[in-house]
Amino acid sequence: MKAIVHDEYGSTDVLKLAEIDTPAIKDNELLVRVRAASLNPYDWHLRTGKPLLFRVLFGLRKPKKRGIGADLAGEVKAVGAGVTQFRSGDEVYGEVEAGALAEYVAVSEDAVALKPTNLTFEQAAAVPMGGLTSLQALRDKGGIRPGQTVLINGSSGGVGTFAVQIAKAFGAEVTAVCSTKNIELVRSLGADHVVDYTREDFTKGERRYDLMLDNVGNHSATACRRVLAPKGVRVATFGSPENTWLGPLAAMARMALLSLFVGQKMIPFSAKPRRADFETLTEMIEAGKVSPVIDRTHPLAEAAEAMEYLDAGHARGKVVITI
Ligand SMILES: NC(=O)c1ccc[n+]([C@@H]2O[C@H](COP(=O)([O-])OP(=O)(O)OC[C@H]3O[C@@H](n4cnc5c(N)ncnc54)[C@H](OP(=O)(O)O)[C@@H]3O)[C@@H](O)[C@H]2O)c1
Repeated sequence: MKAIVHDEYGSTDVLKLAEIDTPAIKDNELLVRVRAASLNPYDWHLRTGKPLLFRVLFGLRKPKKRGIGADLAGEVKAVGAGVTQFRSGDEVYGEVEAGALAEYVAVSEDAVALKPTNLTFEQAAAVPMGGLTSLQALRDKGGIRPGQTVLINGSSGGVGTFAVQIAKAFGAEVTAVCSTKNIELVRSLGADHVVDYTREDFTKGERRYDLMLDNVGNHSATACRRVLAPKGVRVATFGSPENTWLGPLAAMARMALLSLFVGQKMIPFSAKPRRADFETLTEMIEAGKVSPVIDRTHPLAEAAEAMEYLDAGHARGKVVITI
């Protein structure tokens, strides 16, 4: 089968379109013919092996896994002996640790759900990591409730475009932080208020927030505290590689430490694929409450070019790869 692989860490030059064996499946896995995948900043970590601490997981000198890409949508071609929830022919979407940029992938039945009936494969592939991160961060870590004031910092990218819609679906009053060119986009997703970060610093504003989802990490925990309500919560998803060894973990640790001494909660967060949460996303999508935003679509052979675009940090929604 055709797949994008990398045998060393580095720039997008390390990515190669190769012919490799179709993966074997374990008892709890599905073999999926991938029709579309989407890219995430997570792929940058996989490809570059940065921050260096991540190499403990990904491989010290070179990547343990040759494949790349996490988000996928496609058709089930075979199921493992222990699979109970899916059968051949099902159309699914979900997440793998690596290897979604390939014609076939082996994926745990716990990390996929049936594809929303109203989405194409391209649209469904845009959902997994961005949708799941937003849902778990706002609902499980943020405890979002109707009527709360919620700020989404980084509202126009892969996570933020879902977060704005999901926060609205939970009945929150949403403030979206984005640049001038994305104001109309985030308004169309339901944002009640918009802060243009090129003109205004939201941490210096008068409005107070019950919940802040921070996908950017460009303001200190102390600055963010200033605009959090007395019992407010800041959930941080950002992965900016500010520190060579620890990456975002350094800022996350500082934030968690501060949280011990103040009334507000500061929560570092990492999403985990769960079938039940993908099913919740499917319900929200089929009910018309959430819809993926696709910036651009590339064929598999242009994966490196697509990743370079995402690496620049200015995607509007998701970058999709068709396979
Ligand atoms: N913890 C987890 O489980 C988890 C899961 C997924 C993602 N993440 C992390 O979350 C972050 C966001 O992911 P993503 O998929 O949304 O990335 P993305 O798609 O690359 O996000 C890019 C967006 O960020 C906006 N942006 C850049 N600088 C900004 C600023 N100063 N203020 C507000 N918006 C700004 C850009 O808008 P402009 O073009 O207008 O600048 C662009 O729309 C990444 O750091 C990623 O590593 C974490």
